[in-house]
Amino acid sequence: MPFALSEMSYMSDAPLDRVRVLLGVSGGIAAYKAAELVRRLRDAGAEVRVAMTANATHFVGVATFQALSGNPVRTSLWDESAEAAMGHIELARWADEVLIAPASADLLARIAHGHADDLLSTLVLATTAPVSVAPAMNQQMWANPATQANIAQLRERQVRVFGPAVGNQACGETGAGRLPEAQELVAALVAARGPRPLDGLRVLVSAGPTFEDIDPVRFIGNRSSGKMGFAVAAAAVQAGASVRLISGPVALPTPAAVQRIDVRSARQMRDAVIAAAGSHDIFISAAAVGDYRPRAVATSKLKKSGKPLALELVQNPDILAEVAALPEHPFLVGFAAETDDLERYARDKLERKGLDMIAANRVGEALGFECGENALLLLWPGGREELAMADKNVLAKSLIERVAARHAAVHAKTSKA
Ligand code: CTP
Repeated sequence: MPFALSEMSYMSDAPLDRVRVLLGVSGGIAAYKAAELVRRLRDAGAEVRVAMTANATHFVGVATFQALSGNPVRTSLWDESAEAAMGHIELARWADEVLIAPASADLLARIAHGHADDLLSTLVLATTAPVSVAPAMNQQMWANPATQANIAQLRERQVRVFGPAVGNQACGETGAGRLPEAQELVAALVAARGPRPLDGLRVLVSAGPTFEDIDPVRFIGNRSSGKMGFAVAAAAVQAGASVRLISGPVALPTPAAVQRIDVRSARQMRDAVIAAAGSHDIFISAAAVGDYRPRAVATSKLKKSGKPLALELVQNPDILAEVAALPEHPFLVGFAAETDDLERYARDKLERKGLDMIAANRVGEALGFECGENALLLLWPGGREELAMADKNVLAKSLIERVAARHAAVHAKTSKA
């Protein structure tokens, strides 16, 4: 095999595997416990970035969180160097989960009322990720109707509330207001997230174009950017899968936690896909595989001769059809790019190639290849669904949800049979 695999890093059972947790730390004596929480979150597989309120920095140093999280810590909206590295809106988008622990009475009041007067409250307003708070304060402050009203309002907005625990407090009193232990907070977060649709499954994705060499300097390629396949690979990771991505020549960074294998020609892609197909549960064939290649590759550069040049092309293997012909093949998802008669051609491809699902998109002027947006028509035996024009990352997420649901339905049927 031309590639080495590190199976250990590829598989993981960590309950927060690759989940991006933005940990907000607000001011209170319990802030010291948040240091332990960073460790436990990372042990659970999470990637952690910390945002502290100005008050929190009086209790624990930035350096502690920096060292434990392995990432820069943010404390202010006005830190120009931090904004240049990852702006606060980017940080809000980066997060899969926002967890605020400890959440002081003041912080709860500010987020309950939608304030954006410091970095952490702004991040809470700007994120679309689920928000969890772990309140910690003096028991009278917790019992105060103002705090209780704020908590009720946050719960109503689907903010999860972890704790507080009951017991001895740093202020010498006893009652409700303690920050739960780090391990309990991690368990609460894992439970709140629930199972992910592709947990425990292995997904193989092909992406990008293939290049077929004519001579040492020329090739036949196509306009696929690879964006859709890369977005699909990233979305599958988010859904809990272990993902291997077989990519043609593209200029894209590898999505986090994806195991990538680069290939050039259709035949190289075929070899890599066939080698992996047996060990994967789902194959999503998003690559724009070149259907033809020159019969022979010239070993030295072709010279112009003043006469027409004829290249003899031979057909490439149909990778998806070959996978479909394997006696035990993964759940198969194909793509169809068509200029007209989208549904008829795509349904025909679904049946002809024996696929479980096909994602069809219209290509042509300003659509499909080379752009960041797309719309998809999903077809499967006996069903269809249209996914409206959206950013490819958003579309990939919707596609993965549908793939997971269809895979589960087909699997349930075969395991009953
Ligand atoms: N595909 C493949 N190997 C090929 C060609 C295509 O695996 N040599 C896969 C693509 O990744 C895609 C699906 O097959 O998921 C549909 O590709 P397309 O080229 O549209 O299929 P064809 O049946 O070859 O289409 P047409 O008849 O339009 O040429």
